[in-house]
Amino acid sequence: MMAQSRSSKKWLNRQNKDPYVREAKAFGYRSRAAFKLIEIQEKYQIVKPGMRVLELGAAPGSWTELLVEWVGENGQIFAVDLLEMAPIHGVTTRQDDIESDACFAWYHEIASNGIDLVVSDMAPNMCGHQRTDQLRSSRLVEVAYDISQNYLSEGGFFLAKSFNGVGFNEMLKALRSTFKRVKVIKPDASRRESGEIYFLGIDKKPQDTVKGESLHE
Ligand SMILES: C[S@@+](CC[C@H](N)C(=O)[O-])C[C@H]1O[C@@H](n2cnc3c(N)ncnc32)[C@H](O)[C@@H]1O
Repeated sequence: MMAQSRSSKKWLNRQNKDPYVREAKAFGYRSRAAFKLIEIQEKYQIVKPGMRVLELGAAPGSWTELLVEWVGENGQIFAVDLLEMAPIHGVTTRQDDIESDACFAWYHEIASNGIDLVVSDMAPNMCGHQRTDQLRSSRLVEVAYDISQNYLSEGGFFLAKSFNGVGFNEMLKALRSTFKRVKVIKPDASRRESGEIYFLGIDKKPQDTVKGESLHE
């Protein structure tokens, strides 16, 4: 058997001790990430029956399975990820980079019938160098925000994972210019040491009142 590296041993140890990992297995969720969305939904009720949802960074799909159940048969989920995802009944999936031109054409097409919610649980491939990881992750949030600015319908919601640090204040300011209410959430299911938080934008302002806050002044 191949020797385990110290970091993979540490990871395995943490997985074995993590109650959310055990619960996820017990409930049949594809990932422990499910519990973060459940907590956010219980508190803020962002997902409603009939909604059309664009999900960025969806694999392996534990959020997608919840979303499709919550929007019901009159709703629609569009889920994209770099990685292949096992199909989920009633979900339109796409294997692509969220920044590709083809993907932007896809957002445009979906938005022609409205998008009520954009969610992003995207995380970059972490290299372990804190500053690089933060920059990569803040880039993903910026793109998700940009997509919500361009394609989310008036009155819509935006939920995106971010990491405390690089670009936090700029993002908060930008979100406040676009949404009537903004929350910063740290779910209990989110690992303390991760520095991960979620931005929630509630009720997108009418397009003509949005100042088009630039993230790069
Ligand atoms: C933490 S996982 C999402 C877990 C998911 N919410 C769940 O409950 O199963 C983050 C995902 O973001 C995806 N991702 C990162 N960068 C991406 C990009 N540029 N385009 C598409 N997906 C991306 C990764 O491939 C990964 O599957």
